[in-house]
Amino acid sequence: MNDALKIAVFASGRGSNFEAILKAIRTGGIRGAGIVAVISNNPGSGALETARRNEIPALHISRTQFDSDGAFDAELLGALGKYGANFIVLAGYMKKVSPAVIAKFRNRIINIHPALLPEFGGKGMYGERVHRAVIEGGAKESGATVHMVDEVYDHGAVILQRKVPVSPDDTPETLAAKILKVEHEIYPEAIRLFAEGKIVIKDKTVSTVS
Ligand code: GRF
Repeated sequence: MNDALKIAVFASGRGSNFEAILKAIRTGGIRGAGIVAVISNNPGSGALETARRNEIPALHISRTQFDSDGAFDAELLGALGKYGANFIVLAGYMKKVSPAVIAKFRNRIINIHPALLPEFGGKGMYGERVHRAVIEGGAKESGATVHMVDEVYDHGAVILQRKVPVSPDDTPETLAAKILKVEHEIYPEAIRLFAEGKIVIKDKTVSTVS
């Protein structure tokens, strides 16, 4: 594969963002990027199933399989090296990425969060909890954020963000569905920008060049 961006996707669950990215790559919406492996802590994840169906290396690597953080990190980094990954896309990955992996992939790891960061992010803010907090907080809008990953949860610089209105009759489920639709648009879009070299990161500041 001669792609500039050799992506390892880390995912724990359903994997719909991974599917949206894969589709964008396969239909030419993203050029210069390929998915070299999907890694999951969850052997039953939809993401691993999708990877297998698409003949992408599907790896179950979990901290629970190892005696130490060091052994786990070594396995992960070994797998990333083996498949030649130079970029990591977190797509519903429910585990914190270890400092060793972040250090090795500095400015090369992105995540998507189903709210408008820096609001409604941080430890414990995932899935339904995010949308419930948004609704209970009376926010008039929410959305999705693609951001860089650093050592702190949901903290790295924002790359792309898109808003959706919160309706008075929204439930966490309806809001999640609206936002997921937007996620499937902006995550491939962000990866396209990286693949085209249009994202410049300097001193933790992200800028987009045209
Ligand atoms: C998405 O809502 C994403 O924002 C969050 O986890 C969810 C993953 O969904 N980080 P999927 O597994 O990609 O379908």
